[in-house]
Amino acid sequence: MSDIIKIKEEYINKLKDNLDLNNVNQLKSELFGKSGIISNEFKKMGSVSAEDRKKFASDLNSIKNELQILIEKRIQDIEINEINLKLQNEQVDVTLPERSFNRGKIHPVSQVIDEISSIFSEIGFSVQEGPDVENEYNNFTALNTPDNHPARDMHDTFYLDNKKEFLLRTHTSPVQVRTMLSSKPPFKIIAPGRTYRSDSDQTHAPMFHQVEGLHIDKNINMGHLKGCLNYFIKEFFEVDKIRMRFRPSHFPFTEPSAEVDIGYELKDGKIIIGEGDKWLEILGCGMVHPNVLKNVKVDTSKFQGYAFGMGIDRLAMLKYGINDLRAFFETDYRWLNHFGFDPLDVPSSYRGLSR
Ligand code: DAH
Repeated sequence: MSDIIKIKEEYINKLKDNLDLNNVNQLKSELFGKSGIISNEFKKMGSVSAEDRKKFASDLNSIKNELQILIEKRIQDIEINEINLKLQNEQVDVTLPERSFNRGKIHPVSQVIDEISSIFSEIGFSVQEGPDVENEYNNFTALNTPDNHPARDMHDTFYLDNKKEFLLRTHTSPVQVRTMLSSKPPFKIIAPGRTYRSDSDQTHAPMFHQVEGLHIDKNINMGHLKGCLNYFIKEFFEVDKIRMRFRPSHFPFTEPSAEVDIGYELKDGKIIIGEGDKWLEILGCGMVHPNVLKNVKVDTSKFQGYAFGMGIDRLAMLKYGINDLRAFFETDYRWLNHFGFDPLDVPSSYRGLSR
């Protein structure tokens, strides 16, 4: 016991030194760690004679308590000291002028993609993505557009190699192919994204955006297509009534194919979407051609469905009254500030179907 009293004194002295938190913790583990001095002393209990054991235990306990209290006190002192030092050294000067900051704006295309995704997700569509660099098979062949098909020229394709194996996708339709090849029907997806064609004027840019839609299940028919598009257009343009017409058309990947026009009128030079007597073409669609389904190994005796594709930039221009497409991609901060969206200000169509 006299040894341990010496050790106690030694440690009391050590604790008076100028210590940091690490030093104190080191001392603490020397004393109370698994094979620390005090812990070892307790292990000796068994070899102390029965009559001395009680006193041994009580002395050892009081030494233990004394040292523990000292150590905890030391730790507390050091921590308080650190806080005080910080308070002294890290004062905030509230009289300094504030730093200027810019809050970014959301680009109309990003905004419209979010709106479209939110509207379609309400009726069970999920969002898929595909790469901008596609292979010729997904972009054309699988979509029932063989080598010599005139639609290939019409697309003004940017090819990436002489063999015309890789290209910048000319539409979002290859995401249909990727989706159907990578899982099993039913499919109910939209696929927004960038698309590319060698074309540039006030309403065409070499890079633009489309959204593809695909719904394949048992017994899906053109009535479903019509209902879906009617719902989307009303939600997107935030109108209760809409005139809509299906015009027969041709796409290699749909049969029958149609283009959809919506009614509008001009008021003070502005386009008002709804029930007016003028027509505006906004998308292409149809029932997915059986050849496409065969190419992606979907059983045409069990499954069928519709697809559609529309230009996102045009939808943004129509909804938000922007008349030059090229400005979309010029990254002019003043333009973005004017036409962009405040990230904290959420328009009603984006919030979902509150109407
Ligand atoms: N991919 C077509 C285009 O870019 C648009 C389109 C038309 C997509 C009909 C479809 C569709 O899915 O069914 O011109």
